[in-house]
Amino acid sequence: MAVQPNIGGLKSPEALQRALTDAQYLADDALATAAYLALALGKPMLLEGAPGVGKTEAAKALGGVLGRQVIRLQCFEGIDAAAALYEWNYPRQMLAIRQAGQGAPNLYSDDFLLERPLLAALRHPGDSLLLIDEIDRADHEFEAFLLEFLSDFTISIPETGTIRATRPPVVVLTSNRTRDLHEALRRRCVYHWIDYPDPGLEAAIVMARASSVAEATAVAVVGAVNALRAEPLAKPPGVAETIEWAEAATLLAGQGARWPDAFRRAIGVALKDHDDLTYLAPRLGQFLPGEAA
Ligand SMILES: Nc1ncnc2c1ncn2[C@@H]1O[C@H](COP(=O)(O)OP(=O)(O)OP(=O)(O)O)[C@@H](O)[C@H]1O
Ligand SMILES: [Mg+2]
Repeated sequence: MAVQPNIGGLKSPEALQRALTDAQYLADDALATAAYLALALGKPMLLEGAPGVGKTEAAKALGGVLGRQVIRLQCFEGIDAAAALYEWNYPRQMLAIRQAGQGAPNLYSDDFLLERPLLAALRHPGDSLLLIDEIDRADHEFEAFLLEFLSDFTISIPETGTIRATRPPVVVLTSNRTRDLHEALRRRCVYHWIDYPDPGLEAAIVMARASSVAEATAVAVVGAVNALRAEPLAKPPGVAETIEWAEAATLLAGQGARWPDAFRRAIGVALKDHDDLTYLAPRLGQFLPGEAA
């Protein structure tokens, strides 16, 4: 299959980075470059990273920038081809048989086909972005099946025939790395590890996403969150928690709470694990920004 550039008017990694920023997704140079190359080379992009670093959001932002509808396949333990490709609508088929009387209805037409994400993406390769989210949750068998799908972008439906994409769709895969992915799957993709953003970038993300938050507050929260991430926590705060902690504390401060206290009272939006809270309780004060605005 010929490689088709999917980059639209985006002529460089920098142009893509700017477009993502306009869409309120702040990507660093490395991520913007990986995304640009994946698009330009017509390859899937594999994003790995800790929970909450912005993997899913990166795919959504990319879809927005490219004017493509995001079709999401959320992986889970036990996911099988039927959930990913298509299913026949049995109740509807039954009903059709009952209503048809003598004439035999065609039970394997589009009317009875329940399109699942992979088939949907295959049918609309020009205006969709296929997000295969949290692939590490699926088992090895499903991963092997996906590898095949990503190699030839065809789906064979025994009752109706083979459907082939007219061009390779844009595909983004994400993984939290709860297990290693197959070598062969990695080889097919442009790989990028998303780290927690550096403090300057994370403060900018907070400002972009939470308009109520003052810059000093954003900077202070990012400092606190980074200190928390250095602790051995079960659920270290992700970027979403940083944004929400800043927002929540700002809200309470607006109602008269003092700064360290506003952060303390809002801690439930930053830390969401009882063991983590218990572990930090004796020292929590040292993680709370004293003066945030
Ligand atoms: N670079 C960024 N620019 C703007 N917002 C971001 C960025 N990174 C993360 N966010 C914010 O953080 C939230 C969480 O990100 P997201 O859900 O994409 O994380 P994730 O890596 O997919 O996490 P998980 O592994 O838990 O699914 C997003 O909804 C968004 O608000
Ligand atoms: Mg995600």
